[in-house]
Amino acid sequence: MEKRVKINILGLKIVLKNPFAISNNQIFLTKNGKTKRLFFVKGLKLKYYGGNNRIEFIDKIPRMKNVKILCGENCKIQIGSSDYTIKNLEINARAENSVLEIGKNFSVESGCIDFHGEPNLRVKIGNDCQFGCDIRFDPADGHTMYNADNKEILNTPQNIEIGNHVWLCRNVSVLKGTCIPDNCVAGMGSIVTGRFQEEGRLIAGIPAKQIDSEKYKKINWTRMPNKSFLECNTIHIVLHSTFLFAPKTTINIAF
Ligand SMILES: CC(C)(COP(=O)(O)OP(=O)(O)OC[C@H]1O[C@@H](n2cnc3c(N)ncnc32)[C@H](O)[C@@H]1OP(=O)(O)O)[C@@H](O)C(=O)NCCC(=O)NCCS
Repeated sequence: MEKRVKINILGLKIVLKNPFAISNNQIFLTKNGKTKRLFFVKGLKLKYYGGNNRIEFIDKIPRMKNVKILCGENCKIQIGSSDYTIKNLEINARAENSVLEIGKNFSVESGCIDFHGEPNLRVKIGNDCQFGCDIRFDPADGHTMYNADNKEILNTPQNIEIGNHVWLCRNVSVLKGTCIPDNCVAGMGSIVTGRFQEEGRLIAGIPAKQIDSEKYKKINWTRMPNKSFLECNTIHIVLHSTFLFAPKTTINIAF
């Protein structure tokens, strides 16, 4: 990945790391079909280890705090606009041809998406996803496990796909090959691996399994705390008695 050019000037040996690549790295904002080149993004630290990397924001740059992107070569990182803040996220794409797509209205408290230097991997995160603290994405393992007889690699890297409106609770790890459909929740501390098929399910545990008890057959979630959710889904009817001494009565109807 890292290209080194060695030059020798009058016996002085100089090694240049990626001398031709640097100017190829670009940040863009794409809005209404028009693309504008950016040179600085607030809250984002960028480090390039190669060339031809493209960081693209769609519609509007989201608020970011302490976000770090490390790029290898020919990587494409696309991030949608968001009403929320992207915090304490490290995207380690120090590999070749890594693709990361994050949809709109994404939020995260802290975490790391790590391509572990393996090339040609893609991580896709849909719209309106909410990630808690200490979230990890590992589309590759970083080291090789193999069959001792025939040297066949057992832990090959694989793409990860997260649907729309998925909530990953605190301390969730998402391993290679994982697929989480729309409206799912991954419970705190889960290690998610494998392809889940059904939308609107709770998945939890180590390794995470779909929770099949009746209560959790069809779930959804919202960013609101319980109190606000109840208030939004309740009609308050206040009945004032015509008698002065009768108490005021409130009827709550949930829908
Ligand atoms: C996902 C979550 C919201 C579900 O809450 P809940 O509806 O009260 O769920 P319960 O704890 O009753 O568990 C529901 C089922 O999932 C199982 N489950 C939940 N968490 C689990 C875990 N980490 N490992 C294994 N099973 C788990 C329970 O055993 C139970 O299974 P059952 O119905 O077969 O008995 C909750 O488990 C959670 O992870 N909360 C943390 C939220 C968080 O991280 N907040 C920080 C801000 S983002």
